Amino acid sequence: MIYDFTYCNPTTIYFGKKSMSHLTEELQRYGANILLVYGKNSIKKTGIYDQICAILRETGKKVTELAGINSNPRYTQVLEGGRLVRENHIDLILAVGGGSVIDCSKAIAASAYYEGDPWQHYWMEQGPIENKVVPVASVLTMTGTASEMNTGSVITNEEKKLKVGRVFPFPDLCPKFSILNPEFTYTVPKTQMVSGIADIFSHLMEQYFSGDDDCTSDYLLEGVMLSLINASRKALVNPEDYEARSNIMWCATMGLNKILALSKTQDWEVHMIEHQLGAYTDCPHGIGLAVISPAYYRYICRHGLHKFVRFAKNVWHVDDTGKSEEQTALEGIQALEDFFRELGIPATLRELGATEEMLPLIAHSTIPGGGYYPMQEEDILHVLHECW
Ligand code: NZQ
Ligand code: ZN
Repeated sequence: MIYDFTYCNPTTIYFGKKSMSHLTEELQRYGANILLVYGKNSIKKTGIYDQICAILRETGKKVTELAGINSNPRYTQVLEGGRLVRENHIDLILAVGGGSVIDCSKAIAASAYYEGDPWQHYWMEQGPIENKVVPVASVLTMTGTASEMNTGSVITNEEKKLKVGRVFPFPDLCPKFSILNPEFTYTVPKTQMVSGIADIFSHLMEQYFSGDDDCTSDYLLEGVMLSLINASRKALVNPEDYEARSNIMWCATMGLNKILALSKTQDWEVHMIEHQLGAYTDCPHGIGLAVISPAYYRYICRHGLHKFVRFAKNVWHVDDTGKSEEQTALEGIQALEDFFRELGIPATLRELGATEEMLPLIAHSTIPGGGYYPMQEEDILHVLHECW
């Protein structure tokens, strides 16, 4: 622990089977005008929409709806939401869904009253907040991103073929409260469930694979990885295993609410590559991460060998007796890849719809960075070919 930090996360979390019972008291803190934001049709199928509408009616709210938010939310939807906020004098944006719906809601909250081009200011220039921000709250139905307890907002600009993440400053864009009922995730299709698990795993690794100091955060990260592996295997066998689904849900929230990154340098290059893969293929975020990760880690592991050996031994219980450090590190990465196969995640970018012609375009538009090794365009292209 060698870097100074300040930590404050103001999101109130209501977790568990009865967590929805807190919605009434929370809604009473805000004005009458609510923008209800949700995805395509899952909340109507599951009945969550009816439950929430009943509570909104009982609390006397005037509801405006923004439905149909895409997985990998679009900038055009952010602009549409902004228009609804201004026209209806919205007091609270209630996001009901997964990361896409919550990210889009934060983007609307930040952009609605920005006088200028929000895409340019907030995503391209990563500029400061200079305008009124509308409060956001969430009811989470799909777990993975931790958007329910962070200020991340990843938006796809289809016209520009860019998927860009913005981490807004805490606390303005932190959801005011988030309702997390693990039972709501039972109906998430298997592909989305494993995508969420891979996303969580990737968040943990992006924070873990950097730095040389003895950092409490690294021990915490290993603990959450172990819990995630254990719970995922159980949820795979029985998707309605409450204990497993609740552990996965909490691993996700803890995985990216900043607490595991305190006093640490971080990587995030796998996410940078995936965001551009997503801009070209629209693949599920976590699935893209799972395909890229083993190839990326094999490429960089010799530059941070001590940490990859630690990962192999502490997370995957690789026996290093009589093995070189590189051999042990590679066995750890293989165990990670095997875990993704066990979840049923494809092994190649081809299976996600990427063509060979896309690879240089993806590499060229990816923001270069990295933890143990500074990646350049040619390194990124090499990694993409390795998993194509
Ligand atoms: O649209 P509906 O019909 O609601 O269906 C959704 C969607 O198709 C479905 N779903 C959600 N809850 C369900 C359900 N289906 C059945 N039952 C339920 N209870 O699941 C599908 C995927 O939802 P989505 O919100 O897109 O998934 P996820 O939570 O993985 O979010 C992905 C987005 O978050 C961004 C990603 O880049 C991507 O755009 N990220 C956000 C981050 C952040 N805020 O910090 C960090 C992440 O690294 C990530 O980049
Ligand atoms: Zn992610």
